[in-house]
Amino acid sequence: MSDFSNTPIDELDSNAAEHELERLAKEIARHDELYHNNDNPEISDADYDLLRIRNEKIEKKFPLLIRPDSPSRKVGSIPKSGFQKVDHVKPMLSLDNAFSAEDVHDFAGRIKRFLNLEETAEIEILAEPKIDGLSAALRYEKGVFVQGLTRGDGKTGEDITENLKTIDQIPHSLSGDEWPDVVEVRGEVYMAKDDFETLNKSQIAADKQPFANPRNAAAGSLRQLDSSITKSRSLKFFAYSWGDLSAPLGETQDQAIEKFKKWGFTTNDMVYVNSDVDEIIKHYEMISDKRASLNYDIDGVVYKVNRLDYQERLGMVARAPRWAIAHKFPAEKAKTILKTVDYQVGRTGAITPVARLDPITVGGVVVSNATLHNADEIERLGIKIGDEVVVQRAGDVIPQVVEVASTNEKNEAVKFPTECPSCSSHLIREGDDVVWRCSGGLICPAQRVERLRHFVSRNAFDIDGLGNKQIEFFFKEGMIESPADIFRLEKNDNDAPLTSLKNRDGWGELSVTNLWNAINEKRNIPMDRFLFSLGIRHLGQQNARLMCLNYLTIDNFLQNIIAATDRESNEYQLLLDIDGIGEKVADAIIDFFDEPQNMDVVNDLLNQITVEEFTPPETGNSEIAGKTIVFTGKLEKMSRQEAKASAENLGAKVSGSVSKKTDILVAGPGAGSKLKKANDLGIKTLTEQEWLDII
Ligand code: IVH
Repeated sequence: MSDFSNTPIDELDSNAAEHELERLAKEIARHDELYHNNDNPEISDADYDLLRIRNEKIEKKFPLLIRPDSPSRKVGSIPKSGFQKVDHVKPMLSLDNAFSAEDVHDFAGRIKRFLNLEETAEIEILAEPKIDGLSAALRYEKGVFVQGLTRGDGKTGEDITENLKTIDQIPHSLSGDEWPDVVEVRGEVYMAKDDFETLNKSQIAADKQPFANPRNAAAGSLRQLDSSITKSRSLKFFAYSWGDLSAPLGETQDQAIEKFKKWGFTTNDMVYVNSDVDEIIKHYEMISDKRASLNYDIDGVVYKVNRLDYQERLGMVARAPRWAIAHKFPAEKAKTILKTVDYQVGRTGAITPVARLDPITVGGVVVSNATLHNADEIERLGIKIGDEVVVQRAGDVIPQVVEVASTNEKNEAVKFPTECPSCSSHLIREGDDVVWRCSGGLICPAQRVERLRHFVSRNAFDIDGLGNKQIEFFFKEGMIESPADIFRLEKNDNDAPLTSLKNRDGWGELSVTNLWNAINEKRNIPMDRFLFSLGIRHLGQQNARLMCLNYLTIDNFLQNIIAATDRESNEYQLLLDIDGIGEKVADAIIDFFDEPQNMDVVNDLLNQITVEEFTPPETGNSEIAGKTIVFTGKLEKMSRQEAKASAENLGAKVSGSVSKKTDILVAGPGAGSKLKKANDLGIKTLTEQEWLDII
């Protein structure tokens, strides 16, 4: 049979179209089978989608040729990339970690200070196991399960309702009648250890890849497009938290959990409440001792402030609540042989030594690479090629080499390079920085590629069809050197028909058109994604969002940051006043924009795209939103930190100094010069109580 797989749709005659539809029907059915029934896909989701899109377009042009077995006609055939994305009504948060008893005491201390309680005040803390599974949010309306979402990035999840319905421990309707009209129960989906063993035995018997650990098995089972597969996989669910609610669940966390039980959920039986931190830590040790004998994996203990009104006041920082923390179990370790060391160049030029190891299973996952961090660490370990080393893995953290177990005098020392492995520029180390960096800056191909990769990554521009492989290809071909070039690709490609992308190996007309569409779709970009995409040191997603909340537009942000180059300026002070932004972060941001080369890259990019104005989250209180507030004097009912957080949660900005831009001064007893200045400038002043009444 002739092959028309690369023929542009416009050039297909009806004979060729018929052949092509037949080929696509078979090919798509084959990939469906590989994906659903063998769990062993051969092609990426994106390539699979391209096949389906091509099929649909040909059918649109030749409707008479649509086959009875067409993939577009199959009942229940869902596009593979396709669970629907749904925004969470309340974000799904992650947890900060504690690694020692001291961290737990610090946590308790922080909470009391925030709430302005005496150090000796009693505050109840609930402790329960941290289940190593996947979180899910289950929405019940009038007691009926209507929608179930994955966590996703915390803001947007995927609709996996049908799969969740197959889990016995998730009720389709709530028992009793004491539930709010709307309640979103959150908790962890997991696979029990014995079910995991059984599943892997049957995978192996059927010549299929076994899963690395119960968590992966649960994840693979939950993300099935065919819910009958999920049903066959024996998943379980613990309820421990909630999101959207139309009425409160009680006064404390443990009361809420009791309600879950009454409604028919399974909750963990190792929940314990105490106001003595040492007692709480004893409970952690008890759970730790039981860990191996439990039929499910846990990776720590979660502590939560029990009183819900306190939880409300404590709120959250960045993406984690202030009122909870995860006390993690120590990392798992294993011994293996160091084969060699490679050196990777990051987007800021940091050189990271990577140990290549004889593959070894650590805590259920096969590890063959581990970080050696930096040159000092190599020296501290005294590590040599061929040594037997101890590798450690904790949670999602990159595995690391922690010590040398045994060596041989013939083994050769690891030599840290003096030149960049990518561009041969010399390496430099600044101040007391432990990291060696390539001095090549923009001439270093590795750094440039890394920056471009970061630019298009999931939390930045997230351009479909432009992944690491494609970035490397375009970079090698000299087609993309800086981010703005991505937005010039289509025009440059049209201008050079002879070398046109669609005629190159691995690129068809459809994939090229799809790429241009995907790129053009991102010409309007949210401000936080834009700032994150620039790859500025210390400006991660959370700090990017803080910038948005405080500066709202990109123009305002740039003006402020450029003015903040003067460390004596109000603008610099304003930047430091942002809760969560310290000097290190502030300086990194300013230094980036102070560098003319970087400004050129940014301006070039801004000519290609539009950065959207940031819309602050709904605050429901227009009186405060957008205002600049200053707190002064002694606050009696709340700590300074809580006062600041309370204003910011309502969409206000908090500043440390009074100026014409100040809208409200909240003055406690002992207020001095700031109060006087505010009075002189005619600024509205409030007492602490008046402020509390407003919020
Ligand atoms: S509470 C606002 N409790 O840990 C706090 N989380 O690292 C929401 N997790 O995404 C989480 N067991 O998937 C909470 N008993 C427990 C948990 C638990 C496991 C997971 C959850 C969360 C992750 C954060």
